[in-house]
Amino acid sequence: MRLAILLSGRGSNFQAIHDAVRRGELDAEIVCVISNRPDAPGIQRAREYGYDTHAIDHKAYADRAAHEHEVLRVLDAARPDFIALAGYMRLLSASFVERYRNRVVNIHPSLLPAFPGVDAQAQALAYGVKVSGCTVHFVDEHLDAGPIIVQRTVDVLDGETAATLSARILRQEHQAYVDALRVLARGVRVVGRTVIRE
Ligand code: GRF
Repeated sequence: MRLAILLSGRGSNFQAIHDAVRRGELDAEIVCVISNRPDAPGIQRAREYGYDTHAIDHKAYADRAAHEHEVLRVLDAARPDFIALAGYMRLLSASFVERYRNRVVNIHPSLLPAFPGVDAQAQALAYGVKVSGCTVHFVDEHLDAGPIIVQRTVDVLDGETAATLSARILRQEHQAYVDALRVLARGVRVVGRTVIRE
C-alpha cells in the first residue's frame, strides 16, 4: 500500500503510522509527506526520517485552488493508493475528493457524527457526554462526514478537562489510525455509508 500523508502540525499520528510501518505492523510504504505549514514539527520529523517531503505553504499561493493544484501535482506524482490526513487543517475541494474518492482518510477526535469541526474534545465536554473517542473515516464533500472505517471509545472521567480528554483520545487515535490503514491494506468495499471489510 502506497501511502501519502498530509499534515499541518505536531504530527503525532504521522509518527504512529511511521512507527507501525517500521515495526512491520503495517504493510505500507510512506511515499510522500506534505505540509501546508513549512514549520510544522511533523514535516521536520518526516524530513529527518528521509521521506520525500514537501512543504507547500498555502500563504505562498494566490488562492485556495492554486495551493491545492500544487498539492495535487505532488500527490499525483507520488502515485499513492491512499492519502492519510493527519492533522491537515485545510478543507479539500469537491474535485480533489472526487479524484481520490474513498482513498482519502481523515482522523477526528470525537465519535462522529457527534462534534464535527474544531475543538471536538471541548465540544464533547461542554455537551456533557460520558463517552467520546475518535473516528477514522473516508473524506467526502462535507466536513468530518464520510464513511466510517474505525472508531475507538474513551470514557469521560470526573473532573476531566479538554487537555486531559484530548491526551487520552490522542493515544487511541494512534492505534485507530494504524488499525484503519491495516483494514484498507486488506481491502474494503464502500456501500452507501458502510465500509465493508474484505
Ligand atoms: C488530532 O487530534 C487529529 O484527530 C486532528 O488533529 C490532531 C492532529 O494531531 N485531526 P497530530 O498532528 O497527529 O499530533
